[in-house]
Amino acid sequence: MPSYLITGVSRGIGFELLRQVSEDPNNVVVGLVRDKATTDKKVLAELNRPNIHIVQADLADYDSLKKSVDVVAPIINGSLDYIIANAGLISKWSGRAGSPGARERYAGVLQG
Ligand SMILES: NC(=O)c1ccc[n+]([C@@H]2O[C@H](COP(=O)([O-])OP(=O)(O)OC[C@H]3O[C@@H](n4cnc5c(N)ncnc54)[C@H](OP(=O)(O)O)[C@@H]3O)[C@@H](O)[C@H]2O)c1
Repeated sequence: MPSYLITGVSRGIGFELLRQVSEDPNNVVVGLVRDKATTDKKVLAELNRPNIHIVQADLADYDSLKKSVDVVAPIINGSLDYIIANAGLISKWSGRAGSPGARERYAGVLQG
């Protein structure tokens, strides 16, 4: 049974990865999220698959990540095959020369 850990499955690409990877019932899929209660509800309503396990952890909080290891280990029998490091944010900043206001932003950075 291949085991997967996907970070940031509450929404967006992470939720879609969760959906697709868990389509195979042989896969054990752990989804890391900051808000477990809300994601549990969403997963139950939209996917409701026994091979999905939602675990709380904040990537910016080392202690919560350490605690999540104790929760995840028994789910995957202590053996993790794949980590999909999806969680993150998309910066609103763009350095592309053609993007609106790029020249001014560069100037602001250079001038401090
Ligand atoms: N969408 C694009 O076009 C695009 C393009 C290039 C790269 N990417 C990358 O692909 C990834 C997903 O993109 P997306 O569009 O699906 O983003 P999204 O809709 O904003 O979702 C981001 C996910 O990351 C989680 N997350 C953020 N900070 C976290 C933290 N400190 N600890 C745990 N979870 C955290 C969010 O959880 P919460 O619900 O708790 O906030 C959410 O589940 C990101 O890394 C992004 O940089 C996306």
